[in-house]
Amino acid sequence: MSIRILFLGEIVGKPGIQTIKSALKRLRADKQVDLVVANAEGTTNGFGIGRAHAIQLQKLGIDIITGGEKIYYKLDMVDFIAKNPSILRPANFPQGVPGRGIRYASVGDKKIVVINLLGNSEFPRTHLANPFLLVENLVEKAKEETPFVFVQFHAATTAEKNTMAFLLDGRVTAMVGTHTKVLSADARIFPKGTAMVTDNGRCGSQMSVGGFDPNLEITKFVTQVPARSRECWDSLEMQGVLVEAGDDGKALSIETIRVPVETPVKPGEENEKEA
Ligand SMILES: [Fe+2]
Repeated sequence: MSIRILFLGEIVGKPGIQTIKSALKRLRADKQVDLVVANAEGTTNGFGIGRAHAIQLQKLGIDIITGGEKIYYKLDMVDFIAKNPSILRPANFPQGVPGRGIRYASVGDKKIVVINLLGNSEFPRTHLANPFLLVENLVEKAKEETPFVFVQFHAATTAEKNTMAFLLDGRVTAMVGTHTKVLSADARIFPKGTAMVTDNGRCGSQMSVGGFDPNLEITKFVTQVPARSRECWDSLEMQGVLVEAGDDGKALSIETIRVPVETPVKPGEENEKEA
């Protein structure tokens, strides 16, 4: 029996949560999804994820939450992540910091593992251990327990994510890239059986700048005056990739997922209320 794991793209703000509310349950049933992993470090206004939002996502059917460079942005997550093994922070943070970067989970009678890593390029505020060195040990250890190994690589450049996929080809079931929030058209299976996608997109507004109101982003670029980005409700979509794996842990397929979702009534009013 094959297993099917859904990797949702980064959830951006309340519009992102709305896509999960509207579309996840049905997709899960339609595609016979066994487990849902979502990158969710932008769930709270696009910058970090607070405790309440993490709990909400788990209630909405997300089994494993992964993070990236913004995982500790909301202060209540620092304590909460230590107590909640289903929320991952990149495994290459210094040893001993709250949380963990690896999650084992059961899918029927099978065990799977998700390893969360952060890239080195273009993250000026984080200086983590080299993910390319660390991943070798982590994958080797995981393979002692299960052939179903998934790497969620949160990285800024295409090159870094592609390189990781080549390094891991034949050693993991899938290498799923995140962070840029733009669904890449390169989902495929590499020669030795590893599924990969450079970026699994975004859950939230697609007519936006990374999920944010484009008008404000224009002003920021034009004036060079910093401002807090605003959530955008235009053209909502839940995006991700669905990976199917055979008994040997090799990928059988990887499918790009795009589910358009209707914007709820009066989003403008709701935005004002939240501001
Ligand atoms: Fe990120």
